[in-house]
Amino acid sequence: MTGLVVAMDGPSGSGKSSASRGVARALGLRYLDTGAMYRAITWWMLQRGVDLSDQEAIAVRALEPVLTIGTDPDAPSVAVDGTDAAGPIRTTEVTAAVSAVSAVPEVRRRLVAEQREIIGAGGIVVEGRDIGTVVAPDAPVKIYLTASADARALRRTAELAGTTVQAQKAAMARRDSLDSTRKADPLAMAADAVELDTTALNLDEVVAEILRLIKEKT
Ligand code: C5P
Repeated sequence: MTGLVVAMDGPSGSGKSSASRGVARALGLRYLDTGAMYRAITWWMLQRGVDLSDQEAIAVRALEPVLTIGTDPDAPSVAVDGTDAAGPIRTTEVTAAVSAVSAVPEVRRRLVAEQREIIGAGGIVVEGRDIGTVVAPDAPVKIYLTASADARALRRTAELAGTTVQAQKAAMARRDSLDSTRKADPLAMAADAVELDTTALNLDEVVAEILRLIKEKT
């Protein structure tokens, strides 16, 4: 399993994070949350008042923030310029703004290079939107997680305080539409990925199914 790369893609709320961490834990692999990297850059830009409706303004500052990512599935961490950002990157403000930042090619170029560096010789589960298509196209195992819009909104609502299923459904539909229609590396299922619909499955069942697929493919 040392050289293994498992690519986990899918829309928001499909259960990628919990499933990826569960699989990494079960196999003793590292875990990389690439969404946390896009969120961290977005948080940094918001703090500095960068106009996120201006792609050029985002592009010129794309290389400035220094990211430090921890890959322990039991304690994933992210810091920006040495400051812990694990909490701030999950705010509604960052969630609403991240698709504008992740659509900018200069941001993607930078982060894809860093992600490939972290993946290195493998032994890692990597979750995101473009892992099987762009970041690690040679990964031997590619999973595309989906779930119905209602199931995804329900899960997210249970995780967050002060929101409703309706509001979450609308926010997720907006983000997924932006992520899958952008020009640069859109959310897409790789031709050789296995689609796994998690609507009717609990976390243990999802992890078990992915472990079975990994066994089958390696
Ligand atoms: O996975 P998460 O919801 O934290 O991702 C936040 C955002 O980061 C996504 O909505 C998307 O805009 C962006 N993202 C991306 N490519 C990835 C991972 C995340 O564009 N590989």
